[in-house]
Amino acid sequence: MTTNDYDAIVLGAGAAGLMCAAVAGQRGRRVLLLDHAEQVGKKILISGGGRCNFTNIHTVPERYLSANPHFAKSALARYTPADFIALVDAYGIAWHEKTLGQLFCDRSAKAVVAMLLDEAAKGGVDVRCGAPVRGVEHGDGLFRVTFGDRAFAAPNLVIATGGPSIPKMGASGFAYDLARHFGLKVVEPRPALVPLTLGGEDVLFRELSGVATPVEARAGKAAFREAALFTHRGLSGPAILQASSYWRHGEPVTIDFLPDAAPGWLVEAKRSRPRATLAAALGGVLPDRLAQTLAERLTLPGELGAQADRKLAGAETRLKRWTFHPNGTEGFAKAEVTAGGISTAGLSSQTMMAKSVAGLYAVGEAVDVTGWLGGYNFQWAWASGYAAGRAL
Ligand code: FDA
Repeated sequence: MTTNDYDAIVLGAGAAGLMCAAVAGQRGRRVLLLDHAEQVGKKILISGGGRCNFTNIHTVPERYLSANPHFAKSALARYTPADFIALVDAYGIAWHEKTLGQLFCDRSAKAVVAMLLDEAAKGGVDVRCGAPVRGVEHGDGLFRVTFGDRAFAAPNLVIATGGPSIPKMGASGFAYDLARHFGLKVVEPRPALVPLTLGGEDVLFRELSGVATPVEARAGKAAFREAALFTHRGLSGPAILQASSYWRHGEPVTIDFLPDAAPGWLVEAKRSRPRATLAAALGGVLPDRLAQTLAERLTLPGELGAQADRKLAGAETRLKRWTFHPNGTEGFAKAEVTAGGISTAGLSSQTMMAKSVAGLYAVGEAVDVTGWLGGYNFQWAWASGYAAGRAL
């Protein structure tokens, strides 16, 4: 028997689905929120090392990737970091800015999930977890969803099942399959905010596993000044994770190992410390093991005083534009988010509703909108969830 006393069914009780359901519920809509996991908001719980970096106060549309860079503007403008901060404050959840506008809970991400569940309860949302979505059909103005051994129907359906990053947590490409089923296009999904792997000539750098240093990392037209970390498989750390979202197979990643050095720094080092080796001079500004490896690669043996200025200037140029050729990424298993997803071309930027299927919405990471590292992705989940929740 099909239960159809709902106005909307939201598939996926993650960040975007919870927000959407709560907002719609509080507007008087009868909402059913379904999730195949036993627990809601699992990614919220593990995010930010368990403290959930729930927003970023520097949120602007330019810090999101999408085939249509304008798409996110409307939703981000109508639900801002200040709106989410007001909600968090209303619940007495203590928070702090860690760095670069990133806001974290002082204590636990559990408080954010509890808050969202409370907001959903205020809207009378019927939350059901722990059974597979077996089928979704559409006809006569109703979406019919088979959830475990129950069937439900409603005139509105929200796809909020996220992207395939971290499949061991139950993440999948379900949103894309469903979107395609309804005739929506999907921009090729790819791992983003993900470590890069090194091979070939770069493989030597894997021996530096555990070494971290502040850099400026560039991929495509984007540049990020934060820490890079060498790993046993390649490169990670915030600067690299950020750059990875802009990196495409076959392209280089360029690293400035001397982001704070004044031009001519190495020639100046020769004047002030002529007896020092290149490795020793680099060791003054870089971790020793990295300084050693870079100096070996630059093949300028002996004392700095014995080197021609021209050669030192050339070495400095290389250190400021060191080119790595990643041979891949660590994939969806390690990706914090998925870039690409349900094409924004088929969605209204005001409401998140599909242009071609009345009553069908898509929100959150499932959509082709991907934020930078640092709270931007949750802000998109809240904002897109809110937009759909207001429209349902
Ligand atoms: P989300 O993945 O949160 O929710 C989707 C829901 O749908 C899940 O509850 C899932 O169980 C359910 N689902 C999936 N398939 C289903 C199916 N077939 N049937 C039924 N239900 C299904 N971002 C940020 O801004 N700050 C941060 O600190 C972090 N930290 C972080 C750490 C780690 C380790 C990861 C992996 C990711 C982050 N992120 C982050 C990214 C952030 O978690 C992500 O962008 C949001 O959770 C996306 O919210 P959604 O609601 O769209 O998907």
